[in-house]
Amino acid sequence: MRLILLGAPGAGKGTQAAFICQKFGIPQISTGDMLRAAVKAGTPLGLAAKKVMDSGALVSDDIIIGLVKERIAQPDCANGFLFDGFPRTIPQADAMKAAGVKLDVVLEIDVPDAAIIERMSGRRTHQPSGRTYHVKFNPPKVAGKDDVTGEDLVQREDDKEETVKKRLEVYQSQTRPLVDYYAKWAANGDANAPKYRKISGTGTVDEITARALEALS
Ligand code: AP5
Ligand code: ZN
Repeated sequence: MRLILLGAPGAGKGTQAAFICQKFGIPQISTGDMLRAAVKAGTPLGLAAKKVMDSGALVSDDIIIGLVKERIAQPDCANGFLFDGFPRTIPQADAMKAAGVKLDVVLEIDVPDAAIIERMSGRRTHQPSGRTYHVKFNPPKVAGKDDVTGEDLVQREDDKEETVKKRLEVYQSQTRPLVDYYAKWAANGDANAPKYRKISGTGTVDEITARALEALS
Protein backbone atom coordinates (compact mmCIF):
# COMPACT_ATOMS: atom_id res chain seq x y z
CA MET A 1 0.00 0.00 0.00
CA ARG A 2 1.37 3.39 -1.03
CA LEU A 3 -0.70 6.28 0.15
CA ILE A 4 -0.80 9.98 0.71
CA LEU A 5 -2.55 11.52 3.70
CA LEU A 6 -3.69 14.94 2.66
CA GLY A 7 -5.08 17.56 5.02
CA ALA A 8 -4.57 20.94 6.63
CA PRO A 9 -2.10 21.52 9.46
CA GLY A 10 -3.60 19.94 12.58
CA ALA A 11 -6.12 17.83 10.64
CA GLY A 12 -4.83 14.71 12.38
CA LYS A 13 -2.52 13.31 9.69
CA GLY A 14 0.20 12.31 12.14
CA THR A 15 -2.31 10.86 14.61
CA GLN A 16 -4.04 8.70 11.99
CA ALA A 17 -0.80 7.82 10.20
CA ALA A 18 0.33 5.89 13.27
CA PHE A 19 -2.75 3.60 13.17
CA ILE A 20 -2.76 3.17 9.40
CA CYS A 21 0.97 2.34 9.27
CA GLN A 22 0.58 -0.23 12.03
CA LYS A 23 -2.39 -1.83 10.30
CA PHE A 24 -0.64 -2.13 6.91
CA GLY A 25 2.91 -2.69 8.22
CA ILE A 26 4.34 0.25 6.27
CA PRO A 27 6.63 3.12 7.33
CA GLN A 28 5.30 6.62 7.95
CA ILE A 29 7.19 9.21 5.92
CA SER A 30 6.52 12.55 7.55
CA THR A 31 8.57 15.31 5.95
CA GLY A 32 7.75 17.49 8.99
CA ASP A 33 9.21 14.86 11.36
CA MET A 34 12.27 14.46 9.11
CA LEU A 35 12.87 18.23 9.12
CA ARG A 36 12.38 18.47 12.91
CA ALA A 37 14.92 15.66 13.37
CA ALA A 38 17.40 17.62 11.22
CA VAL A 39 16.74 20.77 13.25
CA LYS A 40 17.36 18.86 16.48
CA ALA A 41 20.57 17.30 15.13
CA GLY A 42 21.79 20.75 14.02
CA THR A 43 22.64 19.59 10.48
CA PRO A 44 23.07 22.22 7.73
CA LEU A 45 19.61 21.26 6.43
CA GLY A 46 18.17 21.65 9.92
CA LEU A 47 19.73 25.07 10.41
CA ALA A 48 18.32 26.29 7.09
CA ALA A 49 14.90 24.72 7.64
CA LYS A 50 14.33 25.98 11.19
CA LYS A 51 13.78 29.61 10.24
CA VAL A 52 11.37 28.71 7.47
CA MET A 53 9.38 26.28 9.63
CA ASP A 54 9.12 28.69 12.55
CA SER A 55 7.68 31.29 10.19
CA GLY A 56 5.02 28.87 8.94
CA ALA A 57 6.28 28.92 5.34
CA LEU A 58 7.30 25.89 3.27
CA VAL A 59 10.83 24.56 2.85
CA SER A 60 11.97 24.63 -0.79
CA ASP A 61 10.68 21.97 -3.16
CA ASP A 62 14.18 20.89 -4.23
CA ILE A 63 15.23 20.08 -0.67
CA ILE A 64 12.03 18.20 0.14
CA ILE A 65 11.95 16.23 -3.12
CA GLY A 66 15.58 15.18 -2.56
CA LEU A 67 14.83 14.05 0.99
CA VAL A 68 11.80 12.01 -0.04
CA LYS A 69 13.47 10.35 -3.02
CA GLU A 70 16.31 9.24 -0.78
CA ARG A 71 13.88 7.97 1.87
CA ILE A 72 11.68 5.90 -0.46
CA ALA A 73 14.76 4.19 -1.90
CA GLN A 74 15.37 2.57 1.52
CA PRO A 75 14.60 -1.18 1.81
CA ASP A 76 11.77 -0.70 4.35
CA CYS A 77 9.75 1.16 1.70
CA ALA A 78 9.77 -1.77 -0.74
CA ASN A 79 6.26 -2.89 0.25
CA GLY A 80 4.77 0.55 0.53
CA PHE A 81 4.73 3.67 2.64
CA LEU A 82 2.52 6.48 3.86
CA PHE A 83 3.30 10.09 2.99
CA ASP A 84 2.31 12.46 5.81
CA GLY A 85 2.69 16.14 4.93
CA PHE A 86 4.03 15.39 1.45
CA PRO A 87 3.44 16.33 -1.34
CA ARG A 88 2.51 19.83 -0.34
CA THR A 89 2.88 21.71 -3.60
CA ILE A 90 2.11 20.93 -7.24
CA PRO A 91 5.85 20.70 -8.10
CA GLN A 92 6.30 18.10 -5.33
CA ALA A 93 3.39 16.05 -6.71
CA ASP A 94 4.74 16.42 -10.26
CA ALA A 95 8.17 15.23 -9.11
CA MET A 96 6.64 11.96 -7.85
CA LYS A 97 4.75 11.54 -11.13
CA ALA A 98 7.91 12.20 -13.14
CA ALA A 99 9.88 9.71 -11.03
CA GLY A 100 7.22 7.06 -11.74
CA VAL A 101 6.28 6.60 -8.09
CA LYS A 102 3.05 4.61 -8.26
CA LEU A 103 0.54 5.55 -5.57
CA ASP A 104 -2.56 3.56 -4.63
CA VAL A 105 -4.66 6.03 -2.67
CA VAL A 106 -4.85 9.68 -1.72
CA LEU A 107 -6.85 10.03 1.51
CA GLU A 108 -8.00 13.51 2.41
CA ILE A 109 -8.87 14.29 6.04
CA ASP A 110 -11.22 17.25 6.11
CA VAL A 111 -11.44 19.41 9.25
CA PRO A 112 -12.87 22.96 9.59
CA ASP A 113 -10.36 25.73 10.45
CA ALA A 114 -12.00 26.55 13.80
CA ALA A 115 -11.32 23.05 15.17
CA ILE A 116 -7.76 23.19 13.90
CA ILE A 117 -6.69 26.13 16.05
CA GLU A 118 -7.88 24.33 19.20
CA ARG A 119 -6.18 21.11 18.20
CA MET A 120 -2.83 22.74 17.59
CA SER A 121 -2.81 24.84 20.74
CA GLY A 122 -3.21 21.68 22.87
CA ARG A 123 -0.82 19.49 20.91
CA ARG A 124 2.15 17.93 22.70
CA THR A 125 4.77 15.88 20.87
CA HIS A 126 7.33 13.22 21.72
CA GLN A 127 10.08 14.50 19.51
CA PRO A 128 12.25 11.40 19.01
CA SER A 129 9.32 9.29 17.73
CA GLY A 130 6.97 11.97 16.39
CA ARG A 131 4.11 10.59 18.58
CA THR A 132 1.49 13.22 19.15
CA TYR A 133 -0.98 13.87 21.98
CA HIS A 134 -3.50 16.54 22.92
CA VAL A 135 -3.89 17.83 26.47
CA LYS A 136 -7.69 17.52 26.23
CA PHE A 137 -8.65 15.30 23.29
CA ASN A 138 -5.91 12.68 23.34
CA PRO A 139 -4.04 12.98 26.65
CA PRO A 140 -1.01 10.83 27.52
CA LYS A 141 -1.39 8.37 30.43
CA VAL A 142 0.90 10.57 32.56
CA ALA A 143 0.64 14.33 31.94
CA GLY A 144 3.61 15.66 29.97
CA LYS A 145 5.16 12.20 29.38
CA ASP A 146 5.25 9.90 26.36
CA ASP A 147 3.20 6.69 26.85
CA VAL A 148 5.88 4.39 25.41
CA THR A 149 9.18 5.80 26.69
CA GLY A 150 8.07 7.99 29.63
CA GLU A 151 10.18 10.82 28.16
CA ASP A 152 9.10 14.48 28.20
CA LEU A 153 6.61 15.86 25.69
CA VAL A 154 7.20 19.27 24.12
CA GLN A 155 5.14 21.92 22.35
CA ARG A 156 6.11 22.54 18.74
CA GLU A 157 7.69 25.93 17.95
CA ASP A 158 5.31 26.45 15.04
CA ASP A 159 2.15 25.89 17.14
CA LYS A 160 2.01 29.52 18.29
CA GLU A 161 -1.25 31.17 17.22
CA GLU A 162 0.32 33.60 14.72
CA THR A 163 2.32 30.84 13.05
CA VAL A 164 -0.71 28.56 12.95
CA LYS A 165 -2.64 31.25 11.05
CA LYS A 166 0.20 31.61 8.58
CA ARG A 167 0.40 27.81 8.12
CA LEU A 168 -3.33 27.70 7.35
CA GLU A 169 -2.91 30.45 4.74
CA VAL A 170 0.01 28.59 3.19
CA TYR A 171 -2.11 25.42 3.15
CA GLN A 172 -4.94 27.20 1.30
CA SER A 173 -2.69 28.80 -1.29
CA GLN A 174 -0.07 26.10 -1.92
CA THR A 175 -1.37 22.71 -0.75
CA ARG A 176 -5.14 22.85 -1.17
CA PRO A 177 -4.77 22.88 -5.01
CA LEU A 178 -3.56 19.26 -4.65
CA VAL A 179 -7.11 18.23 -3.69
CA ASP A 180 -8.21 19.15 -7.21
CA TYR A 181 -5.01 17.80 -8.75
CA TYR A 182 -5.55 14.28 -7.37
CA ALA A 183 -9.36 14.28 -7.57
CA LYS A 184 -9.22 15.22 -11.28
CA TRP A 185 -6.44 12.75 -12.03
CA ALA A 186 -8.50 9.95 -10.38
CA ALA A 187 -11.60 10.99 -12.33
CA ASN A 188 -9.97 10.99 -15.77
CA GLY A 189 -9.62 7.21 -15.92
CA ASP A 190 -5.79 7.10 -16.09
CA ALA A 191 -4.71 3.63 -14.89
CA ASN A 192 -1.71 5.19 -13.09
CA ALA A 193 -3.85 7.58 -11.06
CA PRO A 194 -4.26 6.86 -7.34
CA LYS A 195 -7.82 6.47 -6.03
CA TYR A 196 -9.14 9.55 -4.27
CA ARG A 197 -10.95 9.19 -0.94
CA LYS A 198 -12.16 11.93 1.38
CA ILE A 199 -13.27 11.49 5.00
CA SER A 200 -14.47 13.88 7.65
CA GLY A 201 -11.82 14.47 10.32
CA THR A 202 -14.36 15.68 12.87
CA GLY A 203 -15.09 13.33 15.76
CA THR A 204 -12.98 11.25 18.13
CA VAL A 205 -9.60 9.84 17.11
CA ASP A 206 -11.12 6.31 17.12
CA GLU A 207 -14.05 7.35 14.93
CA ILE A 208 -11.71 8.85 12.37
CA THR A 209 -9.44 5.79 12.41
CA ALA A 210 -12.49 3.61 11.66
CA ARG A 211 -13.47 5.92 8.78
CA ALA A 212 -9.93 5.93 7.41
CA LEU A 213 -9.59 2.13 7.51
CA GLU A 214 -12.96 1.72 5.83
CA ALA A 215 -12.00 4.18 3.09
CA LEU A 216 -8.80 2.19 2.50
CA SER A 217 -10.40 -1.27 2.51
P1 AP5 B 1 4.24 19.19 9.34
O1 AP5 B 1 4.93 18.58 10.47
O2 AP5 B 1 3.88 18.34 8.17
O3 AP5 B 1 2.96 19.95 9.89
P2 AP5 B 1 1.49 20.13 9.30
O4 AP5 B 1 1.13 19.59 7.97
O5 AP5 B 1 1.28 21.58 9.46
O6 AP5 B 1 0.65 19.19 10.09
P3 AP5 B 1 0.67 19.00 11.62
O7 AP5 B 1 1.76 18.07 11.99
O8 AP5 B 1 0.61 20.34 12.29
O9 AP5 B 1 -0.77 18.35 11.83
P4 AP5 B 1 -1.28 16.86 11.67
O10 AP5 B 1 -2.29 16.84 10.56
O11 AP5 B 1 -0.18 15.85 11.62
O12 AP5 B 1 -2.10 16.74 13.04
P5 AP5 B 1 -1.80 15.89 14.36
O13 AP5 B 1 -2.10 14.45 14.09
O14 AP5 B 1 -0.49 16.25 14.95
O15 AP5 B 1 5.10 20.42 8.76
C1 AP5 B 1 5.70 21.37 9.59
C2 AP5 B 1 6.53 22.33 8.75
O16 AP5 B 1 7.58 21.62 8.08
C3 AP5 B 1 5.77 23.05 7.62
O17 AP5 B 1 5.10 24.21 8.08
C4 AP5 B 1 6.90 23.34 6.64
O18 AP5 B 1 7.65 24.47 7.02
C5 AP5 B 1 7.78 22.11 6.76
N1 AP5 B 1 7.40 21.05 5.81
C6 AP5 B 1 6.96 19.78 6.13
N2 AP5 B 1 6.69 19.08 5.03
C7 AP5 B 1 6.96 19.90 3.98
C8 AP5 B 1 6.86 19.74 2.57
N3 AP5 B 1 6.42 18.59 2.01
N4 AP5 B 1 7.21 20.79 1.78
C9 AP5 B 1 7.66 21.96 2.32
N5 AP5 B 1 7.77 22.18 3.65
C10 AP5 B 1 7.43 21.15 4.47
O19 AP5 B 1 -3.01 16.46 15.27
C11 AP5 B 1 -2.99 17.80 15.74
C12 AP5 B 1 -3.48 17.84 17.20
O20 AP5 B 1 -4.86 17.46 17.25
C13 AP5 B 1 -2.76 16.85 18.13
O21 AP5 B 1 -2.63 17.43 19.40
C14 AP5 B 1 -3.71 15.64 18.20
O22 AP5 B 1 -3.58 14.92 19.40
C15 AP5 B 1 -5.06 16.32 18.09
N6 AP5 B 1 -6.07 15.49 17.44
C16 AP5 B 1 -5.86 14.59 16.44
N7 AP5 B 1 -7.02 14.01 16.07
C17 AP5 B 1 -7.99 14.58 16.85
C18 AP5 B 1 -9.41 14.43 16.97
N8 AP5 B 1 -10.08 13.57 16.19
N9 AP5 B 1 -10.07 15.18 17.86
C19 AP5 B 1 -9.42 16.07 18.65
N10 AP5 B 1 -8.08 16.26 18.61
C20 AP5 B 1 -7.37 15.52 17.71
ZN1 ZN C 1 1.94 16.02 11.66
